[in-house]
Amino acid sequence: MGQGTDSTTSTTSTSTDRAREQARKTAARLSYLSGFGNEHSSEAEPGALPVGRNSPQRAPLGLYAEQLSGSAFTEPRAHNRRSWLYRIRPSAAHPRFLRTDNGGLRGAPFEETIPDPNRLRWGPPPEAPAGTDFLAGLWTLGGNGDTRQRCGMAVHLYSADASMTDRVFSDADGELLIVPERGGLLLRTEFGLLRVEPSQVALIPRGVRFRVELLEESARGYVCENYGRPFTLPDLGPIGANGLANARDFLAPTAAYEDVEGPVEVVNKFCGNLWSAVYDHSPLDVVAWHGNHLPYVYDLRRFNVLGTISYDHPDPSIFTVLTSPSDTPGLANVDFVVFAPRWLVGEDTFRPPYFHRNVMSEYMGLIEGAYDAKAEGFLPGGGSLHNMMSAHGPDRETFERASAAELKPQKVDDGLAFMFETRWPVSLTEQAAGAAHLQSDYDAVWQGLERHFPAP
Ligand SMILES: [Fe+2]
Repeated sequence: MGQGTDSTTSTTSTSTDRAREQARKTAARLSYLSGFGNEHSSEAEPGALPVGRNSPQRAPLGLYAEQLSGSAFTEPRAHNRRSWLYRIRPSAAHPRFLRTDNGGLRGAPFEETIPDPNRLRWGPPPEAPAGTDFLAGLWTLGGNGDTRQRCGMAVHLYSADASMTDRVFSDADGELLIVPERGGLLLRTEFGLLRVEPSQVALIPRGVRFRVELLEESARGYVCENYGRPFTLPDLGPIGANGLANARDFLAPTAAYEDVEGPVEVVNKFCGNLWSAVYDHSPLDVVAWHGNHLPYVYDLRRFNVLGTISYDHPDPSIFTVLTSPSDTPGLANVDFVVFAPRWLVGEDTFRPPYFHRNVMSEYMGLIEGAYDAKAEGFLPGGGSLHNMMSAHGPDRETFERASAAELKPQKVDDGLAFMFETRWPVSLTEQAAGAAHLQSDYDAVWQGLERHFPAP
């Protein structure tokens, strides 16, 4: 926290402290609705929700009715996503959007650099300049697909030390999976408020306006921007009716609205670029809503981790929290995978992740602690990219240790890592390819793996 000596800085610090304290108090008393994909409803004022119809001749309390579609009208019922919003002003009441600076944000197609087959790893990013909010602090590492075709994904990181004030953000290009690594966030969305802390994730659907307030002095983390079909829970097959991420642990907000008259900047990400318009009111003015196109928060510690109780460990797809399906059954546009605390009990089994080459491309990040396949160099806030068919696996030290370890039951609970695993190679932005925190010596991790096969 700045401890300025001049009165202006002191006043600013004090008001920032007060705002943060207020955000913490607000975050501490939120209530939620439980269940992923449910048809939920909520009203912040009694009688605000129409009964028995979506768009009555006159909506209750003088509100405007508006549908927000997250899928085509005609998609099968199981995939259909939409919500009805009852708001003080319709979203249509806005001035013209004008192009504004993209900052560190980039969008697909990613053509700034030649796709790189090398294994890549970045340390934690540098701290954001003072006064950077979540939106200004977004920095694109890379991605694939095309925002204009609604396919593919992007990997972003964020670093911020200021709350968004007097402005909100929405992303027409895709949904945003926010993975905090440091610092809690209060998300004020059109549907209400969510608190998300490190070890939790938040999911903001395509097109939903929101504002991010910081609960600590700084915030840092990862964002998967999913241009494709919305994230959903993976099918469980023979696992049965329960397990992995359970639907009831996804929490949607309850309705809460701002009745603010005055200039509010609305920043809209559209086909890779940011556009800005200054409204004369806050668009977070939804008094009631119902539907299933909703934001959620989910605690990764609730993930029901499954694994072997005999030998070998299953492919890491067993750790999938959410998946964005493609048109090919079983092939994800992008999966969100978590490596949560778990027991390893496999007999005659090499227990860390095995060596492999994968047609899918893997971006990994670390929320806290350490990852069991990499003894060092993979740090919270940093990340690694193993692109299509790149060979990877445990580092030398991990291999030597695991090959010789006594195979008694072992709890892996010293870290929380995750992966965005996507169907197409991830192309880097120029800023990621040239970043000072890109580690030049990552290949050394796999050097010195000794030959054990007998020499002829
Ligand atoms: Fe892998």
